[in-house]
Amino acid sequence: MKNVFWHHATVTRQRRNTQNNHQSVVLWFTGLSGSGKTTLAQAVEEKLHQAYCRTMLLDGDNIRHGLCKDLGFSNEDRKENIRRIGEVAKLFIESGAITLVSFISPFKEGRDKVKELLGGGGIEIYVKCPINVCENRDVKGMYKKSRANEIEDFTGIDSLYETPISPDLIVYTDQETLGESVNKVLGVLINRGIINNEN
Ligand code: ADX
Repeated sequence: MKNVFWHHATVTRQRRNTQNNHQSVVLWFTGLSGSGKTTLAQAVEEKLHQAYCRTMLLDGDNIRHGLCKDLGFSNEDRKENIRRIGEVAKLFIESGAITLVSFISPFKEGRDKVKELLGGGGIEIYVKCPINVCENRDVKGMYKKSRANEIEDFTGIDSLYETPISPDLIVYTDQETLGESVNKVLGVLINRGIINNEN
């Protein structure tokens, strides 16, 4: 970018990670509305926090009240939503945090761009749940509204969700207990050396 310069700080991601005694990474939870992304992300964050890890949770519903409150649910707006969150997540990785990101993030292209942006610093977790189960749960009453045509472009009904092709992990929230899914996520973090048994 012209006339704008990048400043290299002396306190780096690596130094923060060393001080924290764990690596920083993005855990990107993708899945349908009602699949259990936020419940799982919150439960994983709770465990990590109890283990003295630095964490940050970015959640679609919350971020859409602030940073992304100008965006709706058209394909273009969702694309921009995910682009912004990718950039924010990148900053949080630099800060040393294990960053949990919970957004429907329905499009493969957007998810792939984030992976590229994070340069291998992201773990894609597909929170898989059949749409009829999500619809039966209907925690926020959104499926009902969508079926009644009170809202449009609802993911899985009249807006597309592109299933992740090769996610780093799949959790099956209709078949596993929350504890089992949490342990699967923590297992990936341990296997990749992001947290260790001292954490
Ligand atoms: S994303 O597609 O751009 O990744 P995001 O995760 O930020 O979506 O927001 C999803 C949340 O917005 C849902 O949990 C739901 O509560 C709410 N929402 C409102 N309208 C819609 C819609 N048309 N489609 C999907 N979610 C919607």
